[in-house]
Amino acid sequence: MGSEINVRVTGSSGQGIVSAGTLLARVYRDGGRHVFAVQDYMSRIRGGNNFVQLRAADRPVRAPRAKADIIAALDGQGARANAAALAPGGLLLADELTAINQYMVHSEMCANWGYQKLHKQFEKRAITEMKHAEKLIGRILFLEGTPTVSVLRKMNIGADVPKQLAGDHALEAGAIKSYNEAIVQAGEAGDYATRDILQAILNDEDGHIDEIEELQDQVGQMTLPVFLSTQVKE
Ligand SMILES: [Fe+2]
Ligand SMILES: [Fe+2]
Repeated sequence: MGSEINVRVTGSSGQGIVSAGTLLARVYRDGGRHVFAVQDYMSRIRGGNNFVQLRAADRPVRAPRAKADIIAALDGQGARANAAALAPGGLLLADELTAINQYMVHSEMCANWGYQKLHKQFEKRAITEMKHAEKLIGRILFLEGTPTVSVLRKMNIGADVPKQLAGDHALEAGAIKSYNEAIVQAGEAGDYATRDILQAILNDEDGHIDEIEELQDQVGQMTLPVFLSTQVKE
């Protein structure tokens, strides 16, 4: 993939594509990238298909690209309507993109509540998921893979910290299952380099679920108010 990624977030009006696009832009900026974002104004009527397209690069960028390496479709209509914009070798990374967005929302909610330690931990996790997305795209492009279009998983935003942890745990468990299956497939296909890349990502996801379970254990053992009092300062 090199030093540039083009991401299109698509869906119906009112599904939060602008919020998702804004958060994604923030993740890339926090990860040290330059970001250029455009919004498609074609269908402002609620229910029409809209998209936000981001271009994130190592150098300053001043224009969008027409094609996207990743399409994050919030509904099936968006996936179909935007399939033609997927660059050759592009990939829809449903688990990783859902995770980036969900963790950034949770991170910002915790910052808003003054739980700085949770804010930082969740933000760090979001940035790791972004790096996973990049690795996968790089590999697919290297393999000149066939574009895959599917639907972004439903974001599971928790209204309080225990609900956030439960939603994040479910997402990681789903990702671990998918990576385990993909590792078997790569091995069966004799593609050991891809298998190694997937294995490295799986190890990170194992670490993530471990972190989440640690926090859940602390909540259980300390009670929620005491746990939260430990998260206020860095
Ligand atoms: Fe990941
Ligand atoms: Fe993860």
